Amino acid sequence: PFQKHVKPKFPPTVVVSNRLPFVLKRGPNGNWQRHSSAGGLVTAVAPVVADSGGLWVGWSGLFGKEAEEPIPEADPEDNTPTAGITSAQIFPVSLERDEFEYYYNGCCNGTFWPLFHSMPDRAAFKHEHYDAYVEVNNKFAEKVMSAVRLLKQRSDEDEEILVWIHDYHLMLAPSMIRELAEAEDIHIKLGFFLHIPFPPWDIFRIFPRSADILLGLLGCGMLGFHVEDYCKNFVDCCRRLLGCRVDSTHLLVEHGFRTVRVRPLPIGIPFKRFEQLALEAPRVMGGTQKVVLGVDRLDYTKGIVERVKAFELLFEKYPKYIGQVSLLQVAVPSRTDVKEYQDLKNELDQLIGRINGKFSSPSWSPIRYIFGSISQSQLAAFYRDSAVALVTPLRDGMNLVAKEYVACQVHDPGVLILSPFAGAGETMHEALTCNPYEKEDVCDALDRALSMSEDERVMRMMHLRRREEVNNVDFWLYSFLRGMELHNLEPTDDDGS
Ligand code: G6P
Repeated sequence: PFQKHVKPKFPPTVVVSNRLPFVLKRGPNGNWQRHSSAGGLVTAVAPVVADSGGLWVGWSGLFGKEAEEPIPEADPEDNTPTAGITSAQIFPVSLERDEFEYYYNGCCNGTFWPLFHSMPDRAAFKHEHYDAYVEVNNKFAEKVMSAVRLLKQRSDEDEEILVWIHDYHLMLAPSMIRELAEAEDIHIKLGFFLHIPFPPWDIFRIFPRSADILLGLLGCGMLGFHVEDYCKNFVDCCRRLLGCRVDSTHLLVEHGFRTVRVRPLPIGIPFKRFEQLALEAPRVMGGTQKVVLGVDRLDYTKGIVERVKAFELLFEKYPKYIGQVSLLQVAVPSRTDVKEYQDLKNELDQLIGRINGKFSSPSWSPIRYIFGSISQSQLAAFYRDSAVALVTPLRDGMNLVAKEYVACQVHDPGVLILSPFAGAGETMHEALTCNPYEKEDVCDALDRALSMSEDERVMRMMHLRRREEVNNVDFWLYSFLRGMELHNLEPTDDDGS
């Protein structure tokens, strides 16, 4: 009903995610202050809530008594889209510390995260973790219902209410919400988007309660995944584990008396924002040496250890790069309470220390390593000034670093090296690909990237940039809403691009 980049009038929407779109930190006077997330997803989804008078259900990051304190308004200086969401639009879910430990560290990140990334050896299965997952999903479902009731009171009789649930933390919530809404005779449209891969049947079925997860998700009218393979995996699991009738070509699953639609909806980035940041950011890296850049949350799925080992091989196989090229690896701390993540940090610290000790000279080190968060402007400068981005996850739902890198190639374009095991690999055809499990292959791709002619770099990057500029995060958002088949989704005059 509307064109690609014309902003639709958003329906009253309840967005549901594990985390709220901001974190709370104590200010100088001891009061809570909101620190908005600058992530592309939040930036895209926040206006849906703000503009539709919608509500956001999520965990505030606090426990016990602290979690009961009122949510503050946004700082007057905050000009991010999240600032448009008032405290009255936030429905926080409060969790107890123990419950969170089992639900988040245990089930979400100790079981689903590795399993869905096809790394079953890293996945632990504990009944008490899953019990907490069920409990927390129930809590979210109850909270969503209070949000839905409020929107129902406020909206016109024929107005449809959209409930949009995000990610693997909340896979049981859809059917719980559907049941509660049906019991109260409230009609809602329920959609879900999974931000990580959905694994093949043979991996998924390892989870002892796999059928329950499918039944939870099938509470939705539509399910979105990044790429077609994940959609096909889901449909296949429904057929083989639940015996559902499915249409694998049109990605439909029959469940009860409903047909659930499954859609590939590859997420994009706020392209113009990154481009602008890259145009404005001051230079942070000088000199004539070339920089190869890696930027990741410190997570074993990202293949950072494998990447660093491949980089070591580069100097052994191609000594001409010694003193000429260095790796700048930014690793953002993540899930630091989980042992696997602590072990990874130790392994990486030692590995980088060893390689730097082996090759460094007084004026050059092969690896520069930042363990911490950096500002968006600094990140844009890193992207812009790096000759190569080395994006080599072992498995990744999409990978936005690859997309942000191309958005920031505003001057002399660099080369993107991309793993085929990232969702982004499905569409970013002009990137060089290499198998992150094979050091030699990564090393040869690096050699090819570092010696690529300017003509070839320009041509490849032009195509990569064009595609990401069009298929940006707003396009993803509107595609999702279109897929929800809302009858009152009308275009507005605003240009949403
Ligand atoms: C992935 C997930 C998100 C999650 C993010 C950061 O991108 O898909 O849902 O928020 O990682 O992880 P964290 O556990 O810190 O929320």
